[in-house]
Amino acid sequence: MALLQVTDLHAGYGPVQVLHGIGLSVAPGERLALIGRNGVGKTTLLKALMGLADVSRGTVHFEGRALAQAGPGERALAGLGYVPQTRDIFPSLTVEENLIAGLKGRPVRCVQEAYDLFPRLAERRRNGGSQLSGGEQQMLSVARTLLGQPRLLLLDEPLEGLAPIICQELMAAFTRLAQETGVAVVLVEQKVEAALRFAQQAIVLEHGAIVHREACHSLSARPELLERYVGVAGTH
Ligand SMILES: Nc1ncnc2c1ncn2[C@@H]1O[C@H](COP(=O)(O)OP(=O)(O)OP(=O)(O)O)[C@@H](O)[C@H]1O
Ligand SMILES: [Mg+2]
Repeated sequence: MALLQVTDLHAGYGPVQVLHGIGLSVAPGERLALIGRNGVGKTTLLKALMGLADVSRGTVHFEGRALAQAGPGERALAGLGYVPQTRDIFPSLTVEENLIAGLKGRPVRCVQEAYDLFPRLAERRRNGGSQLSGGEQQMLSVARTLLGQPRLLLLDEPLEGLAPIICQELMAAFTRLAQETGVAVVLVEQKVEAALRFAQQAIVLEHGAIVHREACHSLSARPELLERYVGVAGTH
C-alpha cells in the first residue's frame, strides 16, 4: 500500500485555483523530488497535503486513511511532518525550547536525536532562535519537525538562500536520516542537482499540473529537459 496517495487533487486559496488534477503516490521510505519554476504551485501542493490550502476536488490518503476532514494538527499527529519554506521557528525561544516544542509529548531527553543529526544545534542549544544563522535556523526547523517522528517528511526548499557548504551538510543529513530511519521524503527544491541526487523519483510541475515524471538518475542525464522545465539557474 502507498504511504501517500493523491488523486485528482484540485486546490488553491479561496477562489484562486492553483493545482489542477494532481495525482501521485509515495511508497514508505521513498524519496520524491518535486521541481518546477517559481510560482508553479509546489508550496501549494505541500500545503494542500497538510490541510493548509483549500481543496476543491480530489482526495489525499495517508496510510489508507482519507485526510479530507483532518486539520493540520491532526495530520501532523497522523505522521506527516511539514517544514515550510518560511522556516517557522520561534525566534524568542532558545534552540532547546524550540526542540522541546516539537516533541509532541515525547520525553525531553529525546531532543538528543536532534543534536545527533545536527551537532551544530547542540553547540547552540542555549542561543535564541533569532541569533541563529540561516542554515542553523533551517536545521532547527527540520529537527523540530523530525522530533514528532513523521513517516512522511515534506521539505519546502530547505536549501534556499544557504551557502554551498551548508547545503551539502543539510543534504548529507537528509540522506543519512532517510537511510537510517526509513522516513519517506517529498523534497521541493530549486537546486535541482541536489534534489535529483537525493531522491529516487522526480515530478515536474508547471502551471499547477504535473508535466513530467522520471527516475532521478535518468532525468539528471537530460539537461535539455531540465533547462526547458526548470531553467538554467535551477540546475546549479
Ligand atoms: N495565500 C495565497 N493566496 C492566493 N494566491 C496564492 C497564495 N499563495 C500562493 N498563491 C499563488 O499560487 C501560485 C502558486 O504559488 P506557490 O507558492 O505554490 O508556488 P511555488 O511553486 O512554491 O513557487 P516558489 O518556487 O516561488 O516558492 C502563485 O501564482 C501564487 O501567487
Ligand atoms: Mg514555494
